[in-house]
Amino acid sequence: MSNTTKADLDVFRQAMACFASGVTAITTREAGLPSGLIATSVCSLSTDPATMLVCVNKTASAHDVILRTKKFVVNLLSADQVSVARRFASSRGADRFDSAQWEEGRTGLPTLIDAVVVFDCCLIAVHDGFTHSIMVGQVAEAAVNEGRATSCLLWHRRDFARSMLRAK
Ligand SMILES: Cc1cc2nc3c(=O)[nH]c(=O)nc-3n(C[C@H](O)[C@H](O)[C@H](O)COP(=O)(O)O)c2cc1C
Repeated sequence: MSNTTKADLDVFRQAMACFASGVTAITTREAGLPSGLIATSVCSLSTDPATMLVCVNKTASAHDVILRTKKFVVNLLSADQVSVARRFASSRGADRFDSAQWEEGRTGLPTLIDAVVVFDCCLIAVHDGFTHSIMVGQVAEAAVNEGRATSCLLWHRRDFARSMLRAK
């Protein structure tokens, strides 16, 4: 299998921590119960069709739910929604949804009110990514919250940060 040493791995982790990534809450729902995870391994894939990919750990509680329901939402957190990320980290299952306000999106899944952007996605492909599944979602609807789109929550050097637009 892998011949990566622990030292290699430490350097890799340190190097990856230098990337600043937007913090998202990926959400889904099955039999009425919401589930989800905080994720930064999220990016656009193609524009025609509009697709994006998310990398989800195979051990995450929402992993198999997304595979079964074939639907998920990517909510990009705003700079003042760090409490949502912390709530997801400190709780499990449907309790993760207690501290913030959610509504139903186009595909009937929980979408975060006051998120910067919400992507409603249908799962159209899944690829093996070792510990993770690379899930490809076709975007059924993308909604930008213009009033909040000047800043978003970032994960950088293992901590939360705010993005800043350059002053014009
Ligand atoms: C800032 C941050 C980014 C994360 N990014 C990802 C990610 O991209 N993919 C992933 O599977 N888990 C990611 N995680 C971990 C998950 O949010 C979650 O803790 C883990 O999947 C365990 O989920 P479970 O308690 O539902 O099983 C991230 C966690 C944090 C705090």
